[in-house]
Amino acid sequence: MMLNLPKKVTIIEVGPRDGLQNEKLFVPTNIKKQFIASLRDAGLLEMELTSFVSPKWVPQMGDAAEIVADCLDEKARNIVLAPNQKGIDRVYSTDCNAVAVFVGVSNSFNLKNINKTTNDSVAELKPIIQELKEKNYFVRACISTSFYCPYEGKISENDTIALCREFVEAGVDELSVADTIGMAAPNEAYSLFSQLKAEFPGVLLTAHFHDTRKLGLANILASLQAGIERFDSSAGGLGGCPFAPGASGNVATEDVVYMLERMGIETGVNLDKMVDAIEIVRPHLSRPIESGYYRLHAQTV
Ligand code: HMG
Ligand code: MG
Repeated sequence: MMLNLPKKVTIIEVGPRDGLQNEKLFVPTNIKKQFIASLRDAGLLEMELTSFVSPKWVPQMGDAAEIVADCLDEKARNIVLAPNQKGIDRVYSTDCNAVAVFVGVSNSFNLKNINKTTNDSVAELKPIIQELKEKNYFVRACISTSFYCPYEGKISENDTIALCREFVEAGVDELSVADTIGMAAPNEAYSLFSQLKAEFPGVLLTAHFHDTRKLGLANILASLQAGIERFDSSAGGLGGCPFAPGASGNVATEDVVYMLERMGIETGVNLDKMVDAIEIVRPHLSRPIESGYYRLHAQTV
């Protein structure tokens, strides 16, 4: 008996955004630019570059405009995050053509993260998405706390599916469905993603796992079984949301690529070059890189 596996998987690299946003020390802008360039060189052609959020809330992302000015690549999908109209206006003043909006299923989390209720965020974002689509932007919706919330606990599948439906009806191209605090178990990942796959055949469906309890790879395997072929991950396993206590990094890109390639699934990502990309940013980080692949292959660990 064989597992049900695709021939090819797309990795969306979120290291420059999710990976760095939780770093306390400011990573110099030129280092972020080199990091992005070397991740692309490793084959990561879909990437979240930065986010247009309030620099008072997330100082690390205060150089978003400078990053975008130098890091757009025609051959790649260059995604930037924006939570509100002000963020979208800042995106409009750049040449970027792919935007991720974000919202939490959990109202308590959304209030902590965006200072609005989930309903108010959805009401603000719907006309924004419509306008982005009229202007031919690629639009991704990141759905946080899709499984568990640090404040409310377990989130019902029905609530997550209902919120996803609002964004699909608003016209997004992609849903990135997130286990923000890394608490989902593989059976939960399989169950939710199977239902999302059946409900929303017309959108790109992406899974975004944080690896807090080291279940990221198991959840990816379970999601593959549910038919998911797109995964967010972060170089070095960096990441976490500053407003989700207890959340740690995303599942590490190099560990995901290693697992998939060993299973005969093509990712287009070069692992030696991944290690080189991590080396660029590592000296500027306040914590060690703990991914299995990096620890076995880097010269400097
Ligand atoms: P607020 O304080 O309620 O904002 O924050 P406001 O509308 O009252 O405005 C206050 C000030 O902020 C004003 O400036 C605005 O102009 C400015 P002032 O007049 O005081 O000088 N402002 C902005 N400046 C720059 N860019 C903007 C912006 N908006 C307002 N976009 C706000 C509301 C949404 C701004 C704030 O809560 C915020 O920035 N939140 C972002 C938090 C964040 O970045 N979280 C991490 C990303 S989400 C995530 O990591 C989850 C994900 O990975 C999936 C998963 O794992 O779950 C995607
Ligand atoms: Mg995240």
